[in-house]
Amino acid sequence: MKLKTKDLLTLEELNNNELSHIIDFGIKLKKELKNGKTKPILKNKTLAMIFQKPSTRTRVSFETGMFQLGGHALNLSSNELQLSREESIEDTARTLSRYTDIIMARVYDHKMIEILSKNSTVPVINGLSNSFHPCQTLADLMTIKEKKKKLQGLKIAWIGDGNNVCNSLIYGCSKSGINISIATPKGFEPDRQVIKKSKMNIEIETITNPEIAIKNADVVMTDTFTSIHNIDTKREKKFLPKFQVNTSLMKKAKTNAIFMHCLPAKRGHEVTSSVIDGPQSVVWDQAENRLHTQKALLVSLLGI
Ligand code: CP
Ligand code: NVA
Repeated sequence: MKLKTKDLLTLEELNNNELSHIIDFGIKLKKELKNGKTKPILKNKTLAMIFQKPSTRTRVSFETGMFQLGGHALNLSSNELQLSREESIEDTARTLSRYTDIIMARVYDHKMIEILSKNSTVPVINGLSNSFHPCQTLADLMTIKEKKKKLQGLKIAWIGDGNNVCNSLIYGCSKSGINISIATPKGFEPDRQVIKKSKMNIEIETITNPEIAIKNADVVMTDTFTSIHNIDTKREKKFLPKFQVNTSLMKKAKTNAIFMHCLPAKRGHEVTSSVIDGPQSVVWDQAENRLHTQKALLVSLLGI
């Protein structure tokens, strides 16, 4: 399936069918890989990966994914590009479009990925900005579908910071029929516009009580209280101890609830080791599924 959108910047760009196609295609590619049946669908294709911020999962899963599909990935740290010497984002986009078939970038300001997208003739993927992390949502939804065998009608509890990961997740929930209850300290809610655009399709609750949010949840999710772009060193004090996902909080979700975290985790802060290493945690499957869903995304954006 060729996606209607040229780029994936927030997840809002995908319609319900396209999102569900990428998830199912990811599941199919995972099976093929496990059975040793990979096909070089992206032979002779090159992905440029620009990183303004550190990464483990995004970098390795995109690079490995391109390799497995018969293509090639270039890892470009932004301070090694001429961007660091004030070449414009526009000119960088124009140049990379002449060499490569697709661009993925991890940036600070979300505007940078929008400028890249406007000035490149090839597809652009947001590999995380301060505001959104759409690739994470693809892997999260695939993981939930694998574990729960469905998406429609489930309830996710998001506990902690209403951040970039949460913003893309809300779009993902809205396009998959998943209700979401978000518990954050006051002032740490997700993007209001995202909620406004998503709430006609699903139930979205934004509250300050994690114990209420987690009630009847099929999936419990959190993320680090301090994201890469957060500079306030006192932030964590606003979250602890109330917003920590620990064994006693987990007990208030459904008994068969799964625990998810995009990683990297700060154990003993947003989540205890007893939960992340416990029987309900699916975080390693979740991390693995970055690989499969992004391969599905690359192929679908290129329409191959
Ligand atoms: N979840 C995620 O994006 O991880 P990295 O920061 O390691 O890429
Ligand atoms: N919210 C985190 C996600 C890391 C993958 C951050 O932006 O640092």
